[in-house]
Amino acid sequence: MGTARVVFDKWSDRYAVRMADVRSSAVRDLFAAATREDMISFSGGMPEVARVPIESVVNAASSALRGSGREALQYGASEGRVQIRAVVSELMAEVGVRLKPEDIVVTAGAQQALDLLAKIFIDPGDTIITEGPTYLGALQAFSAYRPSITCIPMDEDGMRTDVLAEVLGRIGPRGAKFIYTIPNFQNPTGVTLTPARRRELLDLACRYDIPVIEDDPYGRLRFEGGHCLPLRALDDEVIHLGTFSKIFAPGLRLGWVTAPHPVLAKLLLAKQAADLCGSAYAQITAERYFSDPKWRKVLQDLTRTYAERRDTMLEALAEHFPPEARWTAPEGGFFVWVEMPSFLDLKSILAEAVERGVTYVPGDAFFPDGRGRNCMRLGFCYAQPEKIREGIARLAEVLEDRLELYRAFADAGALPNVPPAPERG
Ligand SMILES: Cc1ncc(COP(=O)(O)O)c(C=O)c1O
Repeated sequence: MGTARVVFDKWSDRYAVRMADVRSSAVRDLFAAATREDMISFSGGMPEVARVPIESVVNAASSALRGSGREALQYGASEGRVQIRAVVSELMAEVGVRLKPEDIVVTAGAQQALDLLAKIFIDPGDTIITEGPTYLGALQAFSAYRPSITCIPMDEDGMRTDVLAEVLGRIGPRGAKFIYTIPNFQNPTGVTLTPARRRELLDLACRYDIPVIEDDPYGRLRFEGGHCLPLRALDDEVIHLGTFSKIFAPGLRLGWVTAPHPVLAKLLLAKQAADLCGSAYAQITAERYFSDPKWRKVLQDLTRTYAERRDTMLEALAEHFPPEARWTAPEGGFFVWVEMPSFLDLKSILAEAVERGVTYVPGDAFFPDGRGRNCMRLGFCYAQPEKIREGIARLAEVLEDRLELYRAFADAGALPNVPPAPERG
């Protein structure tokens, strides 16, 4: 029998104040629980790398070593190899953004770009603006630099630019260090910022003289509907983050950032302090992988796979979830966002869900201030369709049990009445 070990942290009063606001990632914490054999995980945002033919990657990696072994094993330029930046500029041209390699810095995933941007822009107490809810990893990266985070609510058209206008009106020109947005199939809501709102957002940012950071890991994973031009295609002042994680594989840790040159220069200084340079081996491997047009078929196959899983999840939600539930219908990406009546605390229900073999991320993880406990993020990217059906049915039982309890208390007059379910759109 194992004995519980209590670990005292004798340095607990020595850590920098900046770490006080950095919360552990609920998703990472859940990975431990999610290792049970029969666990169905809707908590992660992990790409289905099994669909990337391993032979293609083996060929790319061995050709990187055989053909350019010395470079692959050596330190490289901090901004990344010019060849991989040429690959990025081709990828960006396909989505409507014209760039030269010198406009791009390669980073260790988009995550590193978020950390470096936070490092170069944020002083303690600075206001920054994000969507609410927003990507947990961005909240982690930003909060280490102790900003005051203002969340702009979202609806089915993305960030509410009317609310943004109000907030900016209050804080005035240059009143925030930046506005951070994930315009395509947002993490965690799955919602896409409409073209009209993109223009409004840029107009407001220009009027109030505030930089915009556009984070776009999912834009190429569109299942239906027309392509929306990135903010960076509409305004070359926009700081744009991209990544190979969802179109190839996150294990290579390759992303990129494009920004006005003075911002890139600061970012490079920050990157040199962080890691000197990225892995040349990973970069050459990606260059070789993308030199073979087969990557397009792989991406198509991945997108089809996610689309099928999205369909399955939406069908299962409609079939099993209680009428009080509302959810988004993403046109791409990895996530569906579910909202339950405000009296349901989905954080406290999580343990029960795990017991029944299904995981999700409670919504408060995606807000800096504890809001969102009646919401959850469901990732449809990873589980097989039959598991998705089973997992949603299990989750529905957990929710139904809890709602039953509330209804019983409400009937007995011990709780305010459960509000009637709104029409399901
Ligand atoms: C919105 C968003 N930004 C950034 C990242 C980080 O991606 P990367 O693997 O490129 O670091 C993710 C990962 O899921 C994400 O969802």
